[in-house]
Amino acid sequence: PKITFIEHSGEKHEIEADTGISVMEVAINNGVPGIDADCGGACSCGTCHVMVEGSWFEKLPEIDEMEESMLGLNTMREANSRLSCQLDCTDELDGIVLQLPEFQG
Ligand code: FES
Repeated sequence: PKITFIEHSGEKHEIEADTGISVMEVAINNGVPGIDADCGGACSCGTCHVMVEGSWFEKLPEIDEMEESMLGLNTMREANSRLSCQLDCTDELDGIVLQLPEFQG
C-alpha cells in the first residue's frame, strides 16, 4: 500500500510500504523522521504518534485499551491521533495520509 507521512514542516514522504509489519515499522524502515518508537512497538512509549487525515481515521481498526491509555497520557492528543505501532500495514491502507506531530520532531 502507498502510505504518505507528512512531517510537521510539511515535508512529504510517500512510501510504497510492505505489508505484515506495523505502520511505525514502515516509517522506521524508510527513515521517516518524526517517529521515534522508543519502546520498539510495545505500546508503552507513545513516541510513534500520528494524526490520521480525513475519513481515514474512521476506517481504521478501533483503538484498544492499551493504546487508549497511552494516548490518554498525552495532553497534545488530537481527535484523530493514533499510535502507529498499533496499526498493521495492510493493503486496505492504500492511500492513507498521516501527519506527524510537532512534539515528536
Ligand atoms: Fe512505543 Fe508505539 S512504538 S508506543
